Amino acid sequence: MDFKIEGPLLKQSSVCVPILRTSPDWFGIEEAILNYEREIEHLPTFLAKADGSVLGFLSLKQHNPFSSEIHVMAVHPSAQRGGIGRALVAAAEVHARGLGVEYMQVKTLGPSRLDEGYARTRTFYEAMGFRPLEEFKQIWDENNPCLVMVKRM
Ligand SMILES: CC(C)(COP(=O)(O)OP(=O)(O)OC[C@H]1O[C@@H](n2cnc3c(N)ncnc32)[C@H](O)[C@@H]1OP(=O)(O)O)[C@@H](O)C(=O)NCCC(=O)NCCS
Repeated sequence: MDFKIEGPLLKQSSVCVPILRTSPDWFGIEEAILNYEREIEHLPTFLAKADGSVLGFLSLKQHNPFSSEIHVMAVHPSAQRGGIGRALVAAAEVHARGLGVEYMQVKTLGPSRLDEGYARTRTFYEAMGFRPLEEFKQIWDENNPCLVMVKRM
C-alpha cells in the first residue's frame, strides 16, 4: 500500500477522531472519544496519509525522560493489515529514541477478558516487539483489565 508518514504534529484531533469513529468496537464510548479528542490536540501525533487522506494515526505521551507511551492509535479498517500500524510505531520509536527515551509502553485490554478484537490488537503489539508486563484490574476497572505492555527501545 502506498502511504507516507507525517509527524510528529500537534492539533491533529480533527483528522484523528474520524478514524476512531470507524472502529466502534474499540472506541464506542462517546465520552472516551471526546477525551481522546482533547488529549490528541496536545500530544505529538504521527499521521499515515495516502492521496491527502488520513488512514491512520498514533499519538505519543512522554511520561518522564526514560519512558513514553503509545497513548492511542488506530488505522482505518479499509487500510488495516497493509503495514500502516507498523510504520506508525516505527516513526514513533525513532522520535522517542531521539529524545533519549529507553522504554515504550502501551496499555490495552488484557487477556482475562475474552475479546477477539483486542486479542488481535495484542497480537499486533507483540509483533511490534512489545511484551506483556502485567495485567491490572485497578487502572480501568474489574470488567476492563488493563494489560501494560512494554518495549525496550
Ligand atoms: C491494531 C492496528 C493499529 C494495527 O494496524 P495495521 O496497519 O492493521 O497493522 P500492520 O498492517 O502494520 O501489521 C503489522 C503486523 O502486526 C500483526 N497483525 C496486525 N493485525 C493483525 C491481525 N488482525 N491478526 C494477526 N496479526 C496482526 C502482523 O504480524 C502484522 O504483520 P504482517 O501483516 O506482515 O503479518 C489496527 O488493526 C487497528 O486500528 N485496530 C483497531 C484499533 C486498535 O486496536 N487500536 C490499538 C489500540 S486500542
